[in-house]
Amino acid sequence: MTESTGQTAIAHTNIALIKYWGKADPALNLPTTSSLSLTLNEYFTKTRVEEAAEDTLLINDLPQDSQRVHDFLNVLREEKGDFSPVKVISENKVPLSAGLASSASSFAALTAAVAKYNGWDLSLEELSRLARRGSGSATRSFFPGFAIWEKGSNDHDSFAHEFNVPDLPIALVVCKISGTIKKVSSSDGMRRAQTSPDYDQWVAESAKQLDEMKQALSQSDLDRVGQLAEANALAMHDLNLTATDRRFTYFNQNTMKVFEQVKVLREKGYLAYATMDAGPNVKIITNQEQAPAIKDFLAERFRKIQFDIATPGPGISYE
Ligand code: DP6
Repeated sequence: MTESTGQTAIAHTNIALIKYWGKADPALNLPTTSSLSLTLNEYFTKTRVEEAAEDTLLINDLPQDSQRVHDFLNVLREEKGDFSPVKVISENKVPLSAGLASSASSFAALTAAVAKYNGWDLSLEELSRLARRGSGSATRSFFPGFAIWEKGSNDHDSFAHEFNVPDLPIALVVCKISGTIKKVSSSDGMRRAQTSPDYDQWVAESAKQLDEMKQALSQSDLDRVGQLAEANALAMHDLNLTATDRRFTYFNQNTMKVFEQVKVLREKGYLAYATMDAGPNVKIITNQEQAPAIKDFLAERFRKIQFDIATPGPGISYE
């Protein structure tokens, strides 16, 4: 196979500060709320597509079940025109133990690689719209820094865009707590969370929090950014606990203990707020100056947990 028959794209993962947690239309992957994220420099997926006899998927050199990718490639074929089967070769630099959605960077990189491979000349917004059908959080991984996925109301107007803010020295301390509880996938978790009697209230509250978050970011008010992100995440996790269909939680004992220490850090005068996604791993929002001290403080108290520092990352790129 020669170089010219393939195309490679790199997408960085993102952490939502205002979460996507529910689908208005599961088939089209339309969300119930708009969401806002930060793209991260340290974690990314590099994906190459090459001509092949059938659609196949290789992640970090290991063959994988390719059904979800195959279904997504068929969505792209229907939307943008048919193309021959491809081999998808992915290098994932998103540690699973970090509890960051690798589906975000994976589907963003795949969408971009396939588009370039087929010579489709698409805007970032159109790539984002297409990637939504693979995974919702992927909509936000095309853009550097902050991005907003506008929920829209149909297949055409639900995609993300960059949200420009003045230079903000935000950083995350990522706590790699190993997952000991049974995994509930994002899609299943959302389906169950949407049965909570508090769900509609959460949707309404989330819209207000998004407006406030945009304001806080525009004013470089990192303390307010952290407060809002923590409140938004905790409210999302409350929905899981109050679901009428098989309530559940992503929290484990270490998660709780880290949350407690985040409060202690705040009492000591640090800028520290916690957020978490569909797993037990906590990410602490802080600034770049304080991140190393927070990491050391936690590393001393949790000898078995590994900590990373993550900073704002770039948008999509190609090789
Ligand atoms: C908690 O994007 O993984 O990380 O669209 O079903 O693939 P699907 O879900 P996914 O959900 C991410 C949920 C979250 C919050 C967020 O990233 O906004």
